[in-house]
Amino acid sequence: VKTIGVLTSGGDAPGMNATIRAVVRTALANGLKVKGIMRGYAGLLDEEIIDMDAKSVSDIINRGGTILYTARCPMFKEPEVQKKAADICKKNGIDGLVVIGGDGSFQGASRLAENGINTIGIPGTIDLDIACTDYTIGFDTAVNTAMEAIDKVRDTSTSHERCSIIEVMGREAGYIALWCGIANGAEEILTVEHYDGNEQRIIDSVLEKRKVGKKHHIIVNAEGIGDSYGLAQRIEAATGVEARATIIGHIQRGGNPTCKDRVYASTMGAKAVDLLIRGKTNRVIAYKNGEFVDFDIQEALAMKKELDPYLYSMAKKLSR
Ligand code: F6P
Repeated sequence: VKTIGVLTSGGDAPGMNATIRAVVRTALANGLKVKGIMRGYAGLLDEEIIDMDAKSVSDIINRGGTILYTARCPMFKEPEVQKKAADICKKNGIDGLVVIGGDGSFQGASRLAENGINTIGIPGTIDLDIACTDYTIGFDTAVNTAMEAIDKVRDTSTSHERCSIIEVMGREAGYIALWCGIANGAEEILTVEHYDGNEQRIIDSVLEKRKVGKKHHIIVNAEGIGDSYGLAQRIEAATGVEARATIIGHIQRGGNPTCKDRVYASTMGAKAVDLLIRGKTNRVIAYKNGEFVDFDIQEALAMKKELDPYLYSMAKKLSR
């Protein structure tokens, strides 16, 4: 491999810049060239490709977002589009590609590998919903951001003796909700994976906790369930306890990455380049059982993981 391309795809995540920096500098340290591809696969198709040197990644390890910008690119599912993208890589001398993103982005990376471009995926998403890995870039920062926001809501919720419904990100996955629910000592955690829609049970629980003297009632609600304002209104109407909804939103996707996100994201970037140098392709970097490892992309995509059942049942016991 002589020239490595790097792109970020799907939702951005704090720590992606640390990965880009690690890819660029590891490649340069090994005498390779690096090209940055702007706006994910969409930018690749538009040939938005820039040369990168050591200085192009200065002052970014501490910054959220991605200096390469990102996009979702539904048309990348089409075989002819994938072939065109591989041809563009070849035309620009890119013979190794690092794709930072989620499952959808890995599917695209795998197709590029079939079309003759050596590709390595790196899991970047605040959702933690990539089955092959216990760590995804940005989750640590996102849960810390959400946790701090929920602490603040809790202060005012207690002063006013209210019920607060706080919606965290995760359209399809409840990891942020579960971790914040535990970290913030929430009375209730609603995740897409477990919620059965039984509002009466929530209402009963609000009334019960009032009886034992609880001053607030924190409900962490995952975005996938949504309707936080509606839920607040219904709880207030049924219990007489004032209820307010807060949607934390995209604040969770930004901000300076935590130390863990900077270090793990850097390690994954460096390891991706190591794999390309060793002639590997169609692999994804993962962090599993305390170690950085790599898997075949298709094997990784076929893996399943559930929202940690122990953490979930523990959270219920701790919220009494
Ligand atoms: O995948 C990351 C994520 O932030 C999800 O938690 C959320 O559901 C989704 O992206 C939001 O996407 P968008 O920023 O495109 O609205």
